[in-house]
Amino acid sequence: MLIAGLPGANGIDVGLSKELNIDLTYLETKVFPDGESYIRFTGNLVGSDLILVQTLYPQQDKRIFELILAIDTAKELGCRKVILVIPYLAYSRQDRAFLSGEAVSIKTLLKTLSSLGADYLITVDVHKGDSLKFFSGTAVNVNPVPLFARELSKVTKNPLVVAPDEGASSKAFELSRLICGAEYVVFKKYRDRVTGLIRHEYADVDVRGRDAIVIDDIISTGSTVASIASYLVSRGASNVYVVCSHGLFIGDSLTKILSSGASRIYALNTVPTPQGVSVIDVTPLIATSLRDVITNL
Ligand code: R5P
Repeated sequence: MLIAGLPGANGIDVGLSKELNIDLTYLETKVFPDGESYIRFTGNLVGSDLILVQTLYPQQDKRIFELILAIDTAKELGCRKVILVIPYLAYSRQDRAFLSGEAVSIKTLLKTLSSLGADYLITVDVHKGDSLKFFSGTAVNVNPVPLFARELSKVTKNPLVVAPDEGASSKAFELSRLICGAEYVVFKKYRDRVTGLIRHEYADVDVRGRDAIVIDDIISTGSTVASIASYLVSRGASNVYVVCSHGLFIGDSLTKILSSGASRIYALNTVPTPQGVSVIDVTPLIATSLRDVITNL
């Protein structure tokens, strides 16, 4: 068994190598002057199983093509099983044709990765677990909520956990169960599929003197959590903590969230995060899933 990190590994390849005591194999990568990607395995892969680590943000399309090159080449070089570790699975929000004629991008991506010969896929908190059916091998969706509970239990008392929309409700429910004395509430979010604009319908909550935790899978522009944080502050919340799995933090989103009244923002290391975000390492949870996969190879 070997581990190889692609340019988007974000250090998780090194962490997994230490946790699992598996050697890293060197993968040479470069970009040609015209922008094309190059990869080369320098070690012997014949008969080995290989864990390929690549997160898909930033530069999603480039990261995807590097992964395509790596899977295909590893198989050509005689690799036995290829296990993909993709901490952040880009395109997961485009999981159906919302408007007629749209590409179902996550389907195309996962079909492509499996058709190249990837046997296993481990990802973290994918936008909708059901999307993993498009991967024809075995797919595992790592649940980070216990990690969030561990961190937020240290700083909150009797909190109200808030799901910004229905999609985050099961995470909010689970988090509230894991933090002593916590309750949860689910807000409604409507998105205009043409303009992309969102509108919230807030439940009438009493957060006076309580801490609030807003949980979501992805923070992109920050609009979703910023508007909820402002609402909770206006309703008298003592502190608002924001927690997400994948903090993309586009543009000035971090400033926007902090100026909306959030006291602290947590994100996993599934993608690189800007300064000011409290980062939670998901590597040990990925390692646990990998141990199960390796045992059953
Ligand atoms: C969408 O349904 C996701 O779960 C997130 O709520 C969304 O991606 C957040 O986006 P933004 O930060 O741009 O509001």
